[in-house]
Amino acid sequence: MTKKLKLTAKTANKYDLYELSVQNVDFEVEFISKTFKKYNKSECNSVREDFCASAKISSAWVQNSSNNTAYAIDLDENILQFAKKECLNSLGEDEFNRIKLIKGNSQTKQTPKVDCVSAFNFSYWVFHNRKDLVKYFKNSYKNLKPKGLLMLDAFGGYEAHQELEEKTKYKDFTYCWDQHSFNPITNYITCHIHFEFNDGSVIKKAFEYNWRLWSLPEIKECLTEAGFKSIDIYMQRWDYKNNQETEKFYRMTKCDADPGWIAYIVASKY
Ligand SMILES: C[S@@+](CC[C@H](N)C(=O)[O-])C[C@H]1O[C@@H](n2cnc3c(N)ncnc32)[C@H](O)[C@@H]1O
Repeated sequence: MTKKLKLTAKTANKYDLYELSVQNVDFEVEFISKTFKKYNKSECNSVREDFCASAKISSAWVQNSSNNTAYAIDLDENILQFAKKECLNSLGEDEFNRIKLIKGNSQTKQTPKVDCVSAFNFSYWVFHNRKDLVKYFKNSYKNLKPKGLLMLDAFGGYEAHQELEEKTKYKDFTYCWDQHSFNPITNYITCHIHFEFNDGSVIKKAFEYNWRLWSLPEIKECLTEAGFKSIDIYMQRWDYKNNQETEKFYRMTKCDADPGWIAYIVASKY
């Protein structure tokens, strides 16, 4: 993002704003690396980033170690072109050569087997029925090495079932998460991201998601059906000292009925 330019709906790039407000790439790269080491007592080197969009995780992953490689997969040719431009700008030649940007459907695309398949920011919720979700999980299973881990995230809590808008103010813009509609009969949820700027201009519906709101037990059942052997859920605790959620996620089997929670899911092949 050009720092000197005043940010407005005309000058801003929505993918840059998405990265600043939604993604937590460094956290996720560390989560992948530390979790794999904890489960396998060995390094995670190869990652497949499904639904990669601008491929920020893959990009940070190859920067994290010269042994690391990444396959980044998305259906959308335009976003992959953007991802390539970003990678060329931010990576050295050797790092760039260790990423493969692939146009394809994450549900069916085959890649060489990897240590970790990741699908973050709820992208796999594009699968609206059990058959499609299991098909995606089976494909992830197939693309993992014998000690491989599939890492996902999920959100929930009673606020996830509400139509609401949540605004977060950043220095040059406001991020607006719009849970636009929710149908309790199907659990289909349509969400938008809008960006508002200090000059009053707005990028309305910068992103739109038509998801099914999957519950953790449903996801666990589908992962088991796809062949995964153990499935762990990681959640935040309440930090009473600072009166906020902990940054760290802990493996849990029971948690409070929070109004809104985020979880990481780790499914292993063995
Ligand atoms: C929510 S965005 C990606 C978010 C990104 N993974 C992150 O962590 O912020 C969803 C992306 O998934 C892609 N997508 C949707 N369905 C897909 C599919 N079946 N296979 C691969 N990519 C898909 C879209 O083109 C879009 O770029």
